[in-house]
Amino acid sequence: MSKDNNNNEPKITRERMIELLNEDLAGEYQAIIAYVVYSQVLKGAAYMDIAKELELHAAEELSHAIKIAKQIDYFGGMPVVTPKPVKTSKEAPEMLRADLQNERETVGRYRERIRQAEAMGEFALSEVLRTIIAQEQEHEIDLSTALNIEVPPAIKPDEKQSKEQLAHSRH
Ligand SMILES: [Fe+2]
Ligand SMILES: [Fe+2]
Repeated sequence: MSKDNNNNEPKITRERMIELLNEDLAGEYQAIIAYVVYSQVLKGAAYMDIAKELELHAAEELSHAIKIAKQIDYFGGMPVVTPKPVKTSKEAPEMLRADLQNERETVGRYRERIRQAEAMGEFALSEVLRTIIAQEQEHEIDLSTALNIEVPPAIKPDEKQSKEQLAHSRH
């Protein structure tokens, strides 16, 4: 699949869209699990507010999962049942950084997905993804605020892939 530029996303097939949405769904499951667990195990007065916030994130991620599964079903696909792996840690900053990393990847993925949906003329899908991405960006802000950093840029799926390829080639 060739890619001209960011604003001229090549048209993908429905089958490919189902595959990609299923990867997104596995990411939403991962986010639900991470937020359920981290919201309960974050300890310390400094993290009380963000722990409460993470409980809200968990509920929002569940609503994203349902929306994505609905779209997969609409496209004639079968929603996956397995989450992406969830990192565990006992250290609060490490948990928050893991969440932030996932959110940055998620935002990068949905930006690409919105362009693909528009290229297909699937405007209802693009509309659903836009409401989700707005909440993911809110999650990035909440986590960055708790970590006392500026919101870092989203991670483009291509960048992530090349990083993963690099990691594999080192083995
Ligand atoms: Fe989400
Ligand atoms: Fe999120």
